[in-house]
Amino acid sequence: MKRILAIETSCDETSAAVIEDGTKQLSNIVASQIKSHQRFGGVVPEVASRHHVEQMTIVMEEALKEANTTYEELDAIAVTEGPGLVGALLIGVNAAKAVAYAHQLPLIPVNHIIGHIYANQLVQPLVFPLLSLVVSGGHTELVYMSEPGKYEIIGETRDDAAGEAYDKVGRVLGVPYPGGKHIDEMAHKGVDTFKFPRAMMQDDTNDFSFSGLKSSFINTVHNAEQKGDVLDRNDLAASFQAAVVEVLVKKTIRCAKDKKVKQIVLAGGVAANKGLRTALTQAVEQELSSVELVVPPLALCGDNAAMIGAAAFIDSTNHNQLDLALNAQPGLTL
Ligand code: KG4
Ligand code: ZN
Repeated sequence: MKRILAIETSCDETSAAVIEDGTKQLSNIVASQIKSHQRFGGVVPEVASRHHVEQMTIVMEEALKEANTTYEELDAIAVTEGPGLVGALLIGVNAAKAVAYAHQLPLIPVNHIIGHIYANQLVQPLVFPLLSLVVSGGHTELVYMSEPGKYEIIGETRDDAAGEAYDKVGRVLGVPYPGGKHIDEMAHKGVDTFKFPRAMMQDDTNDFSFSGLKSSFINTVHNAEQKGDVLDRNDLAASFQAAVVEVLVKKTIRCAKDKKVKQIVLAGGVAANKGLRTALTQAVEQELSSVELVVPPLALCGDNAAMIGAAAFIDSTNHNQLDLALNAQPGLTL
């Protein structure tokens, strides 16, 4: 049995969790800073770092308390080393180093993207080969895993991430940051009447592009404003969401077929999107009924430390040392 205290501070959530054997969540405390960033319309890195400093120890203590675990009962400390905001990552990395040093525990660095994928291991066992659609505020990637610990990016965005496009469009619609959740709600009250472009669907590339869709959306809204026309905001949201979801689902299904995977795993903040969850579930049922689809519960879609603890477990045998040279890696890739 291995108990890991995991820490995540890559963006705007300060989080700590206690995870047993990579699969059992004993606690997962998430302190969100969204309210502080909302008035700026996005995450302000300096503000994020300051909040992490204030929250870090409180969140760690709470995670241990809820898990009914003492430092002596821990086997390792895990922390997100990247990718993310450098100042934000550094708070988590230094907190992890301090705790690991004080209690002489091994320190396991975790890639945030791998964390998002492994969040699903807290739901059910991962089965290989698998394909993960990772969709968040900073990432849109199709990751193929032939076996545990092996990652191959077979498709990615060439410009905006899916979540980033949601948030930028949200700003135009005047919804609070981050816009994804609000647009998702509005989309369910509207109809896809605008038929925005579905980018890169004709090509056989697995890559994505969302900046053309975003521009098309913004132009539509601005042109209407100039003419004094009033557009239905729910229809705008529904049309935007339909374009994003169609591309994500079609490419995921195509890659899953090509790679003959046994499992498809949805991951990242945008995995909370109701439209995407429904459309992907239906598409897998209709086109790939022998493939298992894993959709994370809402609490494990956005940034959280439980996913970092789950991912750390697979790497725990390689990291049985306390490496105090660990540093934040804002541009870390897979
Ligand atoms: O994974 P995450 O918490 O942070 C990053 O690693 O980026 O993802 C945050 C992103 C934001 O862009 C947010 O708008 C988006 O996830 N998001 C959603 C929904 N809930 C959160 N996007 C679409 N629909 C949602 N329901
Ligand atoms: Zn994330």
